[in-house]
Amino acid sequence: MRKLKDIRALKLEGYTLFVINQLKLPNELEWEKLETYIDVAKAIKSMMIRGAPLIGIVGAYGFAIGIKQLIESNKDLSKAKDIYDTLLNTRPTAVNLFWTLERMWNKFNNLLKEDIDEKKLIDELFKEARRIEIEDYHANKTMGGYGQVLIPDKATILTHCNTGALATAGWGTALGVIRSAYEYGKDITVLIDETRPYLQGARLTAWELYEEGIPHYIITDNSAGFLISKGKVDLIIVGADRIVANGDVANKIGTYTLSVLAKEHNIPFYVVAPTTTFDLTTKKGEDIPIEVRDEREVKTCGGCDIAPKNSPAINYSFDITPAENITAIITEKGLINEINEKNIKNFLNYKTN
Ligand code: MRU
Repeated sequence: MRKLKDIRALKLEGYTLFVINQLKLPNELEWEKLETYIDVAKAIKSMMIRGAPLIGIVGAYGFAIGIKQLIESNKDLSKAKDIYDTLLNTRPTAVNLFWTLERMWNKFNNLLKEDIDEKKLIDELFKEARRIEIEDYHANKTMGGYGQVLIPDKATILTHCNTGALATAGWGTALGVIRSAYEYGKDITVLIDETRPYLQGARLTAWELYEEGIPHYIITDNSAGFLISKGKVDLIIVGADRIVANGDVANKIGTYTLSVLAKEHNIPFYVVAPTTTFDLTTKKGEDIPIEVRDEREVKTCGGCDIAPKNSPAINYSFDITPAENITAIITEKGLINEINEKNIKNFLNYKTN
């Protein structure tokens, strides 16, 4: 087995949360202290931290931090709902933030029913957030194990966005499968879509793979079709921000295009996501709220204008890949091969009971 590094995007020191400022990678590796729940909300909104599972984990810590602030400033605990709402309204598409906040909210309300002191209340909330973090890390390692079996030796794998240690508690979802394949000794090469406009691929995925010594090339997003048509890609593997009841997947803008290419050229298209990314309350992909970000993200790069100031731009952050374009969804509880509403329901019920 090859030895890999243990890259982590967050660390907790006492009650203080530090995160890697992903806006500064790959040029600077800078840890940012998030002291208040407002700091946390800003870090999520500005994409200082990003990636569906990491947003959820940091949001959970944000809630614990907010309650600690309330207690320390002798404020009314009924203000807890404001903290919850502020964190909830940061980014709309990834479902992880919603369930982690709901879990923290339920924990908080159950703790209030117990006869515990304020210090214990704070400790228990931080512990709950830590449990969410640890569960995510273990889910990723398990998905890596399941997923790597699907990766042939000497494969060239195309991936999109950043789905690695920087997007999760550690190891990663789609990039976790790539890490596991490499760890198991497979001779793989990774093609990384640069992923305009935030450049999660070029800045973050390339940084992680470079750190790990995993062979890779950055490609422009619009190279994928040409490379696939030339037979230079064996499979595509991506993460997910939300998987709904019928199996449609919301993921970084550009994912849908790749799924169409995979179908046209008959190569596997895998989605890797923990079961916590499923949202069975939403029926189909078109019902998922798609985040629209500031047009300046498209019109500038590295602080420089790259388009006429007065030309308008459109900046959808995610798109929807229909279930029928996906070869399999890899979760920590196993694989879903035939993706439809009935199979997903059966799979989640069967595996969680
Ligand atoms: O806008 P981002 O960077 O938060 O989007 C991230 C993605 O789309 C990832 O592919 C997704 O969160 C799954 S990764 C664990």
